[in-house]
Amino acid sequence: MKPTTSPVKARAHTNIALVKYWGKKNEQLIIPQNSSLSLTLDQFYTDTAVQFRDELAADQITFNGQLLTDDGQRKISRFLNVVRDLAGISMHASVDTVNHVPTAAGLASSASGFAALAGAASRAAGLALSSRDLSRLARRGSGSATRSIFGGFAAWNMGHDDNSSYGYPIEETVDWDIAVVAVVLNKTAKKISSRQGMRAAVATSPFYGAWVQTATRDFDTVRQAIADKDFETLGHVSEENAMRMHALNLSADPSFTYFNADTLHAITLIHELRDAGYPCYCTIDAGPNIKVLCREPAVTAVVTKLQAAFGNDAVLVAHPGPGLTFITD
Ligand code: ADP
Ligand code: DP6
Ligand code: CO
Repeated sequence: MKPTTSPVKARAHTNIALVKYWGKKNEQLIIPQNSSLSLTLDQFYTDTAVQFRDELAADQITFNGQLLTDDGQRKISRFLNVVRDLAGISMHASVDTVNHVPTAAGLASSASGFAALAGAASRAAGLALSSRDLSRLARRGSGSATRSIFGGFAAWNMGHDDNSSYGYPIEETVDWDIAVVAVVLNKTAKKISSRQGMRAAVATSPFYGAWVQTATRDFDTVRQAIADKDFETLGHVSEENAMRMHALNLSADPSFTYFNADTLHAITLIHELRDAGYPCYCTIDAGPNIKVLCREPAVTAVVTKLQAAFGNDAVLVAHPGPGLTFITD
């Protein structure tokens, strides 16, 4: 197939990892140290349009309405090179991407961003990839994007090379009243990217080996809890897994953390709610912002308590979201 003569537009949603990816075995190909598992969310997403065009002398990338230069442009151009190699073309592309999620704030913009880009760029280049191959392609941009090709509960099989490291759906349509209350405590870009943070943890945390062992066990437990609709196990193990990931960062040399004072405050509030009999658990990606896992009957209590502490606008209720879609306007 030939490159398309009009832009291809794709939408992908972010995901929250229940069993997290925090470390690479291969930096170049983005092969992780452990398999991970997530829930795709309906409230946060990226829309990306791509067209390869003969007349362009360089890739032209617009990010939230601004033309990108330097590092931002290089990262996307490097990803486009992977697509060009696959399709056997050399044309430059115009890319227009809009994040409906704060960028680089620990809310997984790299997951929705590179999943949407993988979808739009591959189709614009004339490729018709399977969802597994789309997930392998998205992985080359950002590890967490591997899972955002799929809706609902999805996993990333760590594998050992480019072929064997791919995402797959666990339950694309979630038949469960599960909700994720997101608390946006700080929308600004983090100082240490996920890429730098996990590199430091692998290289310097004395607990890294224990992380890989426990995360591997957590993966099986959470997967079984989803199959059994056992919310308490899913929540408990997800929270433990998140805390261990953040403990790696505190134990790195030099020590660092993505938490701020509000993060600790929010964790305390969730523990209080649990003590009061509401089954709710928290998880945190590489940023200060908290995601609370609960079921529908607990949502009001969780939202009320968090809004009282952090303001109405900081709290948002998300549900399982869809996988990659193509948009025709
Ligand atoms: P986050 O927690 O938001 O995923 P990361 O540190 O993992 O933060 O990644 C942020 C980086 O992801 C950005 O600096 C940018 O390189 C990339 N990114 C974010 N949104 C997009 C997008 N829409 N298209 C391409 N890349 C994106
Ligand atoms: C804490 O996928 O953003 O969100 O592969 O270097 O782009 P790169 O990192 P990224 O890391 C995500 C880390 C996490 C956990 C997870 O999503 O599994
Ligand atoms: Co990210």
